[in-house]
Amino acid sequence: MFYSNAEPYPLFANPFQFYFIMSVQKEVKKITTHTLQVMKDSGEKISMITAYDFSFAKLFDEAAIDIILVGDSASNVMAGHETTLPITLDQMIYHAQSVVRGIKRCLVVVDMPFGSYQGNSKEALNSAIRIMKETGGHSVKLEGGEEVVESVKRIVSTGIPVMGHLGLTPQSIYKFGTYTVRAKEEAEAMKLRKDALLLQEAGCFAIVLEKIPAALAKEVSESIHIPTIGIGAGGACDGQVLVMHDMLGINTEFKPRFLRKYLNLHEQINTAVKQYITDVKSGDFPNEKEQY
Ligand code: KIV
Repeated sequence: MFYSNAEPYPLFANPFQFYFIMSVQKEVKKITTHTLQVMKDSGEKISMITAYDFSFAKLFDEAAIDIILVGDSASNVMAGHETTLPITLDQMIYHAQSVVRGIKRCLVVVDMPFGSYQGNSKEALNSAIRIMKETGGHSVKLEGGEEVVESVKRIVSTGIPVMGHLGLTPQSIYKFGTYTVRAKEEAEAMKLRKDALLLQEAGCFAIVLEKIPAALAKEVSESIHIPTIGIGAGGACDGQVLVMHDMLGINTEFKPRFLRKYLNLHEQINTAVKQYITDVKSGDFPNEKEQY
């Protein structure tokens, strides 16, 4: 039976086969923002990973990841920029469209890129609407606290779920000047606690806490009722997120303390491609069985 993206339901000679397939498909229980809230309330941790294309999104969804973040880290890991600032709304939309075509079950969160929401709440709403209409993603994420609360309220009021992002917010790297741990000092920690509450009140369904002390992340996670998703923020967050290139070991240079590498793809790919080159040069590939 041939399935294609354009033709999800082929014609069946036997109607029972059709009903069987439909009922199996119905069993795919999609993750929603409500599911995430239930997970926090019941103490089940939330898993989130970044993806930027169809093939990896499909792999991660099949592995039963809860959330795929189409992160603006695409600017770094896909486009090779030093920061997340250069990536455009059109480019984020392209990545998100590819991811959405690969998934069946997980929730897709799409980062709002730098410059697409900071101007005012109308600009923020227009950008969020473009993301939702053009990608089929399920929600958006933006960085900041008090400064973006009005925009969050306006986006949420139209029915678009919003994820917040506090702590080390990479779009502000030129303000911070460094990628080190944020909110170690009490004044910044106090602002972060207040921002988390404001984002919750504004209607965010979850908040990413990036690179802050574990004790502060624990305190914030316990003080708000919506889920927190940590990256370098300790084990008390309600979920964890990692950039796929980091956790799969595609990057070799990026080695922060919080990162756990689950594969060493850099080495494995390098070995595989070297072998391919050797086989091509020696005439070993293709052999007789590998041709028509
Ligand atoms: O863009 C991204 O990948 C992110 C994660 C680091 C949370 O925002």
